[in-house]
Amino acid sequence: MVEREVHVSDLSADATGKGEYAHYMLKEIYEQPSCLIDVFEGRVHDGKLLDTVFGQDAVEVFEKVKFVQIIACGTSYHAGLVAKYWIEDLVGMPCRVEVASEYRYRNPVLLPDTLVITISQSGETADTLAALRSIQDRTDATLSICNVPESSLVRESRLSLMTRAGPEIGVASTKAFTSQLLALLMMVVALGKSRGMEQQRASDLLRGAIALPSLIEKVLANKTAIEAWADNFKDLTNTIFLGRGVLFPIALEGGLKLKEISYIHADAYPAGELKHGPIALIESGMPVVAIACKDGYEDKIKSNLQEVLTRGGDVYLFADERLQVSDLGDRCQVMTLPAVMAELAPALYVVPLQLFSYYVALLKGTDVDQPRNLAKSVTVE
Ligand code: M6R
Repeated sequence: MVEREVHVSDLSADATGKGEYAHYMLKEIYEQPSCLIDVFEGRVHDGKLLDTVFGQDAVEVFEKVKFVQIIACGTSYHAGLVAKYWIEDLVGMPCRVEVASEYRYRNPVLLPDTLVITISQSGETADTLAALRSIQDRTDATLSICNVPESSLVRESRLSLMTRAGPEIGVASTKAFTSQLLALLMMVVALGKSRGMEQQRASDLLRGAIALPSLIEKVLANKTAIEAWADNFKDLTNTIFLGRGVLFPIALEGGLKLKEISYIHADAYPAGELKHGPIALIESGMPVVAIACKDGYEDKIKSNLQEVLTRGGDVYLFADERLQVSDLGDRCQVMTLPAVMAELAPALYVVPLQLFSYYVALLKGTDVDQPRNLAKSVTVE
């Protein structure tokens, strides 16, 4: 038996109570601006990532790395998918992402000099831990991105980066996700630095990320409009979420949030994939939630949405305020979001989707914080 020192928690009632909010999930959604400030506290200064963020060992690990393998479950897996876009696009390094429950039970090829990153809010998810343990005898280049410093995942990884989101009590993960994204962004910058990423590029990303909390505040201030959209969904049983590029994982995350707490079936697709099958589902009145930032591919998603509209679907589009979308017509309802760098759009666009799911669930009268059949931390198979 292992004996460990007793650790007395210094969490305050503010951190663990609901405060003025009706549900933990709502409180946690609203905490995101301050969580995102905390992620960077003492780690980024004047647009620069401090060398101490990942510890001394990290320099040696990052310099050797040629590939990245990310392993996680659920919402944390979606954060990993966003990171894949960033790592390949901004660092130019091959990156694979896999759900832990698959990774642990197959014989994955682990190329030499692969950095294995596990992502987890709790650090105790059985599948993620087992996946980490399954590669420990093949590499020591392991990094965990985690919200719980005392967790097994952190203890068993060589490197770790805390997401500092504070206790997340609602079963549906919200603030842990956006904090994971910014922690991953720091990792991307650190890895990029060891691969010649220009300082100007790194600073633009970090300064852009530091501006996110104020953009998120603006989105949260739009809650009445989001609530009104939710009203249209409360009696539905099916919906589709669409996104492209770095927003595809956010479409997945939006769909997962809606399923978890409102029990509405939601599938998410990269918008360009629609024509390969899911378009058969589109008929009069089929609701489609879409997200579009200004990434240079806006005409592509517009044409995908046009295909939905011509088949009678109803589109609910969250779009960058700079996009011209009025030509999509009346059956495409649009909610504009503040202008943001396309790379950083995932951390902004997920927020209205979280709030939207929350209000749908509230209107349906489901148990928002403790949805049926779900546990906060899945520590068993
Ligand atoms: O604690 P973890 O991040 O490892 O948990 C992984 C998933 O179980 C978790 O993200 C789950 O999908 C959430 N309920 C999503 O809201």
